[in-house]
Amino acid sequence: MKNIKILLVLFCIVLIQVSVMAQKFQGLVQTPPMGWNSWNRFACDINEKIIREAADAMVSSGMKDAGYEYIVIDDCWQVSRDSLGFIQADPKKFPSGIKALADYVHSKGLKFGIYSCAGDKTCGGRPAGRGHEYQDALMYAKWGVDYLKYDWCNTENLNAIGSYTTMRDAIHEAGRPIVFSLCEWGNNKPWLWAKEVGHLWRTTGDICNCFDCYFDHGTWKQNGVMQILDMQSGLRKYAGPGHWNDPDMLEVGNGMTQNEDRAHFTMWCMIAAPLISGNDLQKMTPETQSILTNKEVIALDQDSLGIEGFRSEVKDSVETWLKPLKNGDWAVSLLNRSKMPRSINIDWKTVSVTDSLSNRTLNIASKDQYKIRDLWLKKNIGDTRKSLKATIPAHDVICLKLYK
Ligand code: GLA
Repeated sequence: MKNIKILLVLFCIVLIQVSVMAQKFQGLVQTPPMGWNSWNRFACDINEKIIREAADAMVSSGMKDAGYEYIVIDDCWQVSRDSLGFIQADPKKFPSGIKALADYVHSKGLKFGIYSCAGDKTCGGRPAGRGHEYQDALMYAKWGVDYLKYDWCNTENLNAIGSYTTMRDAIHEAGRPIVFSLCEWGNNKPWLWAKEVGHLWRTTGDICNCFDCYFDHGTWKQNGVMQILDMQSGLRKYAGPGHWNDPDMLEVGNGMTQNEDRAHFTMWCMIAAPLISGNDLQKMTPETQSILTNKEVIALDQDSLGIEGFRSEVKDSVETWLKPLKNGDWAVSLLNRSKMPRSINIDWKTVSVTDSLSNRTLNIASKDQYKIRDLWLKKNIGDTRKSLKATIPAHDVICLKLYK
């Protein structure tokens, strides 16, 4: 009896130690992750050729050079579990296996990501993680996975914090640093608890390739770009280096107009969103490529302060967004949400805004003067002594950097 008690106490001490030690991998994604994911363009219709070609195109298109890093396979790569419960890739679609694919992606100097789900089935009905967390994490580590997107379908009666923490601990235990991307659509307010659990968390349901509308599927809704942008309100205080709000992957190059794509991309950069492209990289137009690889706009997203921008003014359907940057610089974006062009006239000498979250002030009215660079025209356009007069096309944006 005494021996059993001692054993029990020892067991509890070990358990406590394991749970104290287990944590998310630190030091990853100090700026928002950048990459590509198969879902928005290919949905379940994926195979190893598509993924390899995406990796090839990420390099040849200049996206890798612009900072994109992760190639992520979304749902539908998995078909079954073997007799020991280990997850199996679809042998028809991925005949070379996931390890070979990860090796290929790594050989391009890129990182490799994969998808699963906290329920017993993924949203696409494939075998998922519930009850297999430690086994799956071991497999991912063995394959060389660097990024895991973890979904929330088929999770009736599951506790979100508990489920995601179990997977976090499993990843930690497997020992390979993996970026852990929570995809529970904001249902359980992950911004309040997920900082300790993962590196990014979806704040909303799925995005669709529409600038200002939503698709109603009956039991669920897909949101357009502006709808998702509005849903980020109040969340900026929860994000920062290593822990990001995720307003979902990019729809740039998936059917919106060039103006809309430019506005979508700019706004995701203004709110320090993960930049996970979701188009066909092999077949993108030069226009799409030039949006996705605009390094000066990307630099706003990747600014080391990691402070999300905020909407400071709305006038006649034109929103002014500000984002504090390192070295006292500011990003200023003027977003025209109207279906008509809008003229603007900014008298910088009247601008005085304090961001109480970051405690930074843009005070041109009585103190500071800045030079101005237009990041889409890629041109210096003077300084804040002179008013800015311009016309913004419908559903488009002007994106400026104010610098000393
Ligand atoms: C959910 C996610 C999407 C995608 C699909 C895959 O809807 O939110 O991003 O991963 O599942 O089935």
